[in-house]
Order: sequence, then C-alpha cells, then structure tokens
Amino acid sequence: MKTDGCAQQQSCRKQSLIEDARKERSGSGSGPGGSAGSPGPLGPPGPPRPGDGFVFEDKDGKVVLNVLFALSDEKHAGFFKTGKIFETFEAKLLHIESRPRRKWKNSPADLEFFLKCEVHSSDRDVFINSLKRVADDVRAVPEEKVPWFPRHIRDLDKCNMLITKFDPELDHDHPGYNDSEYRKRRAAISELAFRYKQGEPLPSVEYTAEEVSTWRQVYQQLRSIYPSLACRQFLDALQQLEKECGYGDERIPQLRDVSAFLKEKTGFQLRPVAGLLSARDFLASLAFRVFQCTQYIRHSSAPMHSPEPDCCHELLGHIPMLADKEFAQFSQEIGLASLGVSDEDIEKLSTLYWFTVEFGLCKQNGAVKAYGAGLLSSYGELVYALSNEPEYKPFNPEETAVQPYQDQTYQPVYFVSESFEDAKMKLREYSASIKRPFAVRYEPFTCSIEVLDHPSKMQHALSQMREDLKTLHCALERLSSS
Ligand SMILES: [Fe+2]
Repeated sequence: MKTDGCAQQQSCRKQSLIEDARKERSGSGSGPGGSAGSPGPLGPPGPPRPGDGFVFEDKDGKVVLNVLFALSDEKHAGFFKTGKIFETFEAKLLHIESRPRRKWKNSPADLEFFLKCEVHSSDRDVFINSLKRVADDVRAVPEEKVPWFPRHIRDLDKCNMLITKFDPELDHDHPGYNDSEYRKRRAAISELAFRYKQGEPLPSVEYTAEEVSTWRQVYQQLRSIYPSLACRQFLDALQQLEKECGYGDERIPQLRDVSAFLKEKTGFQLRPVAGLLSARDFLASLAFRVFQCTQYIRHSSAPMHSPEPDCCHELLGHIPMLADKEFAQFSQEIGLASLGVSDEDIEKLSTLYWFTVEFGLCKQNGAVKAYGAGLLSSYGELVYALSNEPEYKPFNPEETAVQPYQDQTYQPVYFVSESFEDAKMKLREYSASIKRPFAVRYEPFTCSIEVLDHPSKMQHALSQMREDLKTLHCALERLSSS
C-alpha cells in the first residue's frame, strides 16, 4: 500500500515501540530484556550489562523458590525439621533470613523465615507440602525474573539496542538507499551518537545547505497549520523555541541548545541516538527525563516522507511538548512504569506511548487539539486526525494499552485526554496495577532510580516527603498570616 510520510512514520514508531517489544519477548531468556546479551533479529547485540546478576532463571530442571513460613513458640523444634526436609529433597539453600513475627505482637517468641532455595522442579509441590506439615503460613513464590534496567543515568550508555530495519544501508525501500553520499553522511552522524557518553557535551552537526533546505520545506508546511490544530502547550513552547533556540526555517536547531532549553523548563535533557531504539531502552530513558533524539535528517528527495524518525520528527514533534511540565511528568511516568516489567507490559506501555505521546489528542476550550509528536510532525495525518473522519475515544489506559493500531495508514481511532493532569493520574493508576515485585522512584539529586523493595528504603523516601510537607506547611502559614 502506498503511504505518505506520516504513515511511514507511524510504521517506524510502531516498529520501534510495539512490534519490537514482541520481538524482545520472543527472544527473551537470553539476556536483559531478552535482547542485549545475544544477537537477536532486531540488530546488533548491545554491550554486556553489569548488574544483570539479579535476573534468576531456572536451569537443568531446577527451580528457584522464595519460601516464607512461620514457626510458633511451640514449634521451634520445627526449624530442625525443616532442615531435614531440605536434606531429603536435596534443596540447595541460597539465602535465609528470620525476624520476629509481626502478625502477633504479643507472641515475641514467634519467628518468621524467608528462604531462597533451589529444588528439583518435579519435587516442588511435595517439598512445599512437607514444609506445611512442620511450619505455619507456608508460602512459596516462584523466583521473579526481573529484566535488567538502568539504575543510574550513566547506565543509559548501555540502553543502546538499535533496530536496523529502517537503516538506509539495509532497507531497499529507504529513499536514501541508492544514495551513497547520503549513507556516508548518515554513518558519520550516527558515529557521533555511538561515541557519546552520558554527561558529555552534546555533539554539534554542521548541516549542509541541502539538509537545511529539506528542514525548511518541512518547517514551513507544518508551521502554517499549527495555530489552528496544535494544543496550547505546543504553541507556547514553539514560540519560546523560536525566540530562544533559533527555531525557524533558516537553520536546523542543535541538540545542545535545545537540551539546555528543556533542562531549564522541565529538567528533560537530550542524548543523541544513532537510530531506532528498542522499546525497553527507549522507555527506560524517559524515567530519567532523558529523551533519545536522532540528529540526522530525512533524504532530500522526499522531504515529506521518512521511513524513520529524524530530526524533523524529534525537533518539531517531540521537543515543544517536552517543555511543558505536566507533559514532561506524564512522559517520565511512562518511563518509570516500564522499568523491570515483563515484555507483555512493555508492549502495553509502548501502545500507550503510541496513542498518547505519538498520536495523542486533548480537549482545550471546547475543541480537540493535537499533542502527539507523530501528528505534529506530519502534515497529512495532523489534518486527518482533526477532521471528522477518525473515531475519537476518551483516554483510558486499560483500553488504550490494548487498542489495535494501523501500521500502514492513518490511525482509525485517536484517544482524547481531558488534560495532561487527568492523563497523568490515570496513567499512575494503571502503572500501579502492573505486576512488579517493587516500586520505583526517581531520585533527582543523584539522577538515579530508587528501588523501593525494603522498608528502610521506604522510610528514607517518607522522610524526604515529610521535609517537603514541612516546607509546604511553612509556606501556607506565611501566606495565611500575611
Ligand atoms: Fe517519536
């Protein structure tokens, strides 16, 4: 089917964020996210990722179990009986902890135990039943497989699994496939991204007259329809970008300037990326308020047609929205929700991302406006999405996350948010329902992810919140007394 530029962009983003998640799942078990440790169908393998050690897997017919049980005062001898059961089933003890049983505070002698052990898969049920005979409240939980995720912003250097599907070197349908000069140029710009390490100054690209001409055509065409179709937040930010970052039709803005602008507005920053990233890696960077941004531009023969995201899509579609505080928070929430979740949940979050950050609409002053980057960087689909043709549905994460999508033409359905605040609250509720053995919190002072999997860590987070509340309380008192 013949497609125009925006339909092609739809296709490429779907590939990067949804289809790719499926492929990750089919390749899972070989490494973090089922991808980085071994060559997969998506492209070159990523580098080894230190810290993968907490990904536990069944091996050689054995299963790792987390077993919890309690022993009452009368059953202390039961502890030795449990040892006998371990011996009988040749269970390998990997970890053991005990603590006073909190359930019954009046019985301080009662203890509860947590054991991690490895048993033969075939013995699992009998082993657990045997424990139940000598202990109380026996619960066995299969060892969770937690895919690797970045804990510190510098770990984003390892979130670089690229998808080569739309590479002009490999894709015969890419407009630049037969242009060796273009491919050479792309390779040179990609090299800047490959070499980049978190914290370094962002690389500058000296764009050629031909590249600026391509940008100009895209800029002029889209700029003319923004005032009537784009949301207020986008228009406000674009105006500021034109004033402060050199946005306009005369030159292509540099990532370094744009990143500094965003950092001041919402704390978001950019890092260069050489092409399409895997869904898991792309979403993980959002948790750190980092947006992975391509720096190359589409081929000059097709200024309104790009089979992949390029700087027109990033700088025009994404950047203005990332300057809005509510939207920035919304984007980070999706990123945080993605850390360490299953491939199925990555796929759902990718679909949510697709129908919001890429193709979202919102209500404003009684009208529907666009805020999705796939729309705001595509003349054809922007006009179509705000015509009477497509179906609108209210944004509801449960429904949106499983909505089928089109990858060869415009979306038949768009989701309309009441506001970014409303979308954020709904997303937060949805995220809380995702199965994950821990919660995460971004720690902005150290640019790291706090994994809240232990009471002491929650205590630390709570004490920080108390300090914030004290500050707010103090501010309110001052306001009321003035
Ligand atoms: Fe995008």
